[in-house]
Amino acid sequence: QAVNLADYRPFPFAIETTRLVFDLHPTRTRVSAELSVRRTGGKNEPLVLNGERLKLVSIAIDGRPLAAGEYGVDAERLTIAEAPDAFVLTTEVEIDPSSNKALMGLYMSGGRFCTQCEAEGFRTITYFPDRPDVLSRYSVRIEADGKFPHLLSNGNPVASGSLDGGRHFAEWSDPFPKPSYLFALVAGDLDVLADKFITMSGREVALRVFVDPGQASRAAYALDSLKRAMKWDEEAFGREYDLDLFMIVAVRDFNFGAMENKGLNIFNSSLLLADPQTATDLDYERIEAVVAHEYFHNWTGNRITCRDWFQLCLKEGFTVFRDQGLSADMRGAAVQRIKDVRALRARQFAEDAGPLAHPVRPSSYLKIDNFYTATIYEKGAEIIRMLKAILGAPAFRKGCDLYFQRHDGEATTVEAFIACFAEASGRDLSGFFGWYEQAGTPSVTIETAYDAAAGALTLTLTQSTSPTPGQPDKKPLPIPIAIGLLAADGRVLRDTEIVLLDQAQMTVRWDSIPEPPVLSALRGFSAPVNLSTDARPSDRYVLFGSDTDLFNRWEAGQTLARDLILTRAAGAPDEVGEERYADALGRALVDDAAEPAFKALLLALPSEPDLALMFEAADPAALHAARDHLRTRIAVHLGDLLRRLHGEMQINGEFSSDAAAAGRRALRNACAEALSADPHAENLARLLGHFGAARNMTDMIGGLYPMVAMGGVPREKALESFHHAWRTEPLVLDKWFAVQGRDPNPDALERVIALTQHPDFEPTNPNRLRALVSTFANFNPARFHDPSGAGYAFLADEILKVDAFNPMTAARLVEPLGGWRRYKPELGDLMRAQLERIVAHPNLSKNVLELASKALG
Ligand code: ARG
Ligand code: ZN
Repeated sequence: QAVNLADYRPFPFAIETTRLVFDLHPTRTRVSAELSVRRTGGKNEPLVLNGERLKLVSIAIDGRPLAAGEYGVDAERLTIAEAPDAFVLTTEVEIDPSSNKALMGLYMSGGRFCTQCEAEGFRTITYFPDRPDVLSRYSVRIEADGKFPHLLSNGNPVASGSLDGGRHFAEWSDPFPKPSYLFALVAGDLDVLADKFITMSGREVALRVFVDPGQASRAAYALDSLKRAMKWDEEAFGREYDLDLFMIVAVRDFNFGAMENKGLNIFNSSLLLADPQTATDLDYERIEAVVAHEYFHNWTGNRITCRDWFQLCLKEGFTVFRDQGLSADMRGAAVQRIKDVRALRARQFAEDAGPLAHPVRPSSYLKIDNFYTATIYEKGAEIIRMLKAILGAPAFRKGCDLYFQRHDGEATTVEAFIACFAEASGRDLSGFFGWYEQAGTPSVTIETAYDAAAGALTLTLTQSTSPTPGQPDKKPLPIPIAIGLLAADGRVLRDTEIVLLDQAQMTVRWDSIPEPPVLSALRGFSAPVNLSTDARPSDRYVLFGSDTDLFNRWEAGQTLARDLILTRAAGAPDEVGEERYADALGRALVDDAAEPAFKALLLALPSEPDLALMFEAADPAALHAARDHLRTRIAVHLGDLLRRLHGEMQINGEFSSDAAAAGRRALRNACAEALSADPHAENLARLLGHFGAARNMTDMIGGLYPMVAMGGVPREKALESFHHAWRTEPLVLDKWFAVQGRDPNPDALERVIALTQHPDFEPTNPNRLRALVSTFANFNPARFHDPSGAGYAFLADEILKVDAFNPMTAARLVEPLGGWRRYKPELGDLMRAQLERIVAHPNLSKNVLELASKALG
C-alpha cells in the first residue's frame, strides 16, 4: 500500500467552509462537522473522506439523514458514491481522547486536551479529506466542563460564555484557508504569559504563551524569542504576521519538538520552558531556534503549504534554513555553522550512507511520518543554502519575494518554488533540481598542482556519489565550493571564491599566485558533501592556526584529530603527531581573538558515531579506546592550560542567557570534560568542586557527566543528590536519565536496563523514553555495541513495547540498528538479527515495519 508521487490527483471536491463543534469529554468526546462541499472534479467521482478510529453517530446531506445504502464506512474511510455537486455534509462522531497514547489526533496530556494533526492525525478526529491540498475556512465551537477553563483553537476568538451544568464554550474563527494538518485545539487549566508585538505595518498582535499552572515565569525566554523571531522575519524576509493573536501552548506529552498550527503553535514543554536553574544553555539555544522555526512556518508552510507530502521539504527545508539564519544572527555565524554541520553529519550523513537513504523529495512512502527525517529537514536546508550561494544574496531574496507573492494561499510544489528562483535570477536551475531527487552524499576530491615558474595553481575537482537503495546510477550535481588560499605562514593569498563544480570532473586554473599556497576549500561548508584533498598535515596545521574562515579552522583541527584516532585504532599510533596536535590545540586555546564558544568547539574531539562513519567495518570498542587515548594525551599535555581556563571562564554574579555568557560556560564545561580524562587528585577535586558549586543547570550538567564517568562512589553520590534535588521537575529528571544513558562505564547497559524499572521511568512519555533509550543507543556506542548483542536486544525490546501504543515514537528508535552494515560482522550480524526479530513480530505497526524492513535491505 505504498503512496507514490506519480499517482498524485487533485481532490475532486472543494471544502469551502468547515464548521466543527467539540463536546469535550475525556473518554467520550463528540465531534460534529459541517462541511460545505462543492464538486470541482469529474461528475462520477465519489466523495471519499479519511477517518480512522471514529464511531459514526450520524450523517446527513443538506439536513437529510442518509440511509444505510447511501454511504459506506470502513476502518480508514467514509465513501459517498453518489454525491450532489454542491451540498452541506454533516457528520457526528464519538472519540476517546484519554485512551489515545499514540499522541496523534486529539489526546490528553497532564489532564488537558490537546491535538497533533500533522501529518495524518486529523482523520482520527473527524471524517475529512485529510490531505494538505484541501484548504478550507474553519470555524470551531468548543464546549467543555468548567474545570477546563481555557478553550483554544486556531484564528481569532469570536464568542465565549457559560452553559448549563457547569459547562462553558468558546468559538473561534480562522479567516485563512488551511489544510487539516494545521488544525489545533487545546482545553484545560493553564497559566498564561501575555505580551504584544507591533508589526512593521503598525498592526498590534496579542501574544500569549500558555503553560502548566505555576510555570509562567519559565515561558519568558520563549516569549522573548518569539518577539525577536517576528522582527527578524520582517527584516530578513519581509514577512509580517497576519492574525490579531498568536498563541503557543506547552504540553509535556508530545511526539516531536513542536507544531506550527495556524495561530496556535503547540510545543513539547522541553522546547519551551526555561530558567537558569532547570535549563541548560543548549535548551535556551534550541528554544530560540524552535520558537522561530514554528513561527516562520506561518509563511513557509501555512500561507504557502505543500501540495502533497512528497513536498514536505518545501516547508521544512526552507523553514530550517530560515531558523538557522536567525540563530546565526543571534549567536554568531561561525559557531552556529559549526554546530549545524556537526548535526548534519551526525544524523543526515549517517542516514544517507545507510539503508534508509532517501532523496530530499522522496517518490514513495508507506507512512509519511517516517519521512520527517534529517534528510528532509537538514539536507533540505542545505539545498536552500546552496541556492543562495549560487545565486548570490540579492537574487536569492528576489526569488523568495516572488515565491511569497505568487503562491500565497496555495498548496504547491518544489518545482514551483525553484521556478521562482530561476525566473528571478534568469538562471537555468534544471540541473540544480537533481539535489532534490538524488539521495546520497556526494564525494568531492580536489587535487592541486602548483607551477612555481608560472605562478599558477591548477585545481582538479571531481565528484561522485555512491549508489543508494533504488538509485544505482548517480549523475553529477552542481556543487558550490567556496575556496580561498593561504600562504604557508598563514597570510591570505587569495580571498574566497565560489567554484561551481557541475560536472563529474573539471579543472580550474588560477594565475598570479606568487608562492606555494595552502588550499582552504569548502569554506563555511558551502555544500553537503564529503571532501578529500591532497592536503598534508602541515597544510592542515596552517589552516588550524590561521584560516580566516573559522569553519575551516575548526574543520582542520577535527580532521587532524580524526586521523590520529583512526591511525591509533588501526594499530599504528602516531605519538609525535599526537603531541604536535596537542601543542597546536593549546595555541588555539590561548588565542585572544577567538571567542570562548569557538574554543569550546575546538576542544571537542570528533564523536564516536562520526568516527564510525569512516569505516567499512567499524569496531566501536577500538574507536572508543583510541579516542580516549587522545583525550588523555590532551588532558595531560595541556593540563595547566585547561585548569587555568576552567578557572578563568567561571562567571561570578548574575546569570545571563546571552551568547557570550553561554560561550564561557561552554568552554568551562569543555575544560572539565577534557580534564576528566586525566583523573588525578587535583583534577578530581576540581571536578567535584565544579559540580558541587554549580548554580545553574548548564554548570550542573557539565559537572554531573564527569562524576558519572568516574563511576564508583562519585557516580552514586552525584546521581543521588541530583535526583533528590530535582525529582519533582520532569524536564530535569529527563536529564538525569539522559546522563545515565551516556554513562561510559562497563556496567552502563545493565544500569540502563534497570532504569527502565525505575518508578520515574514513564515509557508513555516520549521525552522520558528518548532521554534514556535513544540517548543510550545513539550516544553511547561503546556500550550499545556490547559484543554480546545485549544492547541491541534491549533496544529491540523497547521498540516492540512502545510500538504497541505509540508507533511513531517506536519507529524513531529503529535507526541505530539500521547501520548494521557499517560494523564489523560479529556485531553487524547481531544487529541484523534484532531487526529480523522486530520484523517478525505480530501486529507490528506500519511505521516500524517500513523502517525495520528497509533497514534490513
Ligand atoms: N511540522 C512540525 C515541525 O517541523 C513537525 C511535525 C512532525 N510530525 C510528524 N508526523 N513527524 O515543526
Ligand atoms: Zn517544521
